[in-house]
Amino acid sequence: MSSAAYREVEVDLEVRRREQSADGVVTLTLADPAGADLPEWTPGAHIDLVMTPSLTRQYSLCGSTASRSEWRVGILLDPNSRGGSQFVHDKLQEGTTIRVRGPRNHFPLANSPRYQFVAGGIGITPMLPMIEAAEATGADWRLIYGGSARSSMAYLEALERFGDRVTICARDEEGDGFRTKLAAVLAAPQENTLVYCCGPEGLLDAVEKGCQAWPDGSLHLERFSAKTVEAPSDALDTFEVECQRSGITLTVPLDKTIYDVAEGAGLDVLGSCMEGVCGTCECEIISGDGDHRDSVLTDSEKAANQTIMICVSRSRSERLVLDL
Ligand code: FES
Repeated sequence: MSSAAYREVEVDLEVRRREQSADGVVTLTLADPAGADLPEWTPGAHIDLVMTPSLTRQYSLCGSTASRSEWRVGILLDPNSRGGSQFVHDKLQEGTTIRVRGPRNHFPLANSPRYQFVAGGIGITPMLPMIEAAEATGADWRLIYGGSARSSMAYLEALERFGDRVTICARDEEGDGFRTKLAAVLAAPQENTLVYCCGPEGLLDAVEKGCQAWPDGSLHLERFSAKTVEAPSDALDTFEVECQRSGITLTVPLDKTIYDVAEGAGLDVLGSCMEGVCGTCECEIISGDGDHRDSVLTDSEKAANQTIMICVSRSRSERLVLDL
């Protein structure tokens, strides 16, 4: 199960510092206004920033896991913003308070003697605490980090101290050098090495392809947006969901999600992205066969069928019993 093993909270935090970390990237340092400690988290975790009742976005924590007094997030102003990054860049100034939920981790760092980290653009954020953890355990690690120009690539200064463990590829300096170097890095599976990648869709697809010959379980990805998951040919148009905790059974029709129907019935369901990316709506499966269409669970987690993202996934069995 991919749920976090630590405490999740919903709190109002204050923006203590706001720094420009690169062109278009701000780093916010968030802290409890009264100075209370924040919950522990692990590398790869993200938090939800609840900007308005209908606008919630997830951002990876990029500070140090050792700091209990503040959380840091790096946020790129996306020119195609659907409102989230624009809100952050326009409205979240030092002293502003923002509702925060989390932390939650669907991109946990597994123990390994060696890591290959791959970051594209703002996908560098979860890699920073992963590198801190790799350094702490003495793991052998490398990072390849690509972006359009050095001026738009955040945290380059912080990475400088790692010398040749880090390869920086800026498109305005070396054209498609990132893809060429990446292909060379992944060309042959490396022994006892896990690959962690975060970045835009095209990069994730390239890394997925590049890792095809690597042992199963080597590659770990985090997506910013949902990948297209086709409905299986035997998908059910309608099915029943038994909500065991609430003692009610609901029928989910073709044009509604489990989340919609559960919320409509007055159940206390939690969701955020509504496209199978963030993991907020994850529910435990008690029995039945999930038709998993999310971008959060790995293939082996989907096969294990222990949890389901109810905002997009459906059922392959006539009845699905959930811990709802
Ligand atoms: Fe984000 Fe379901 S609400 S995965």
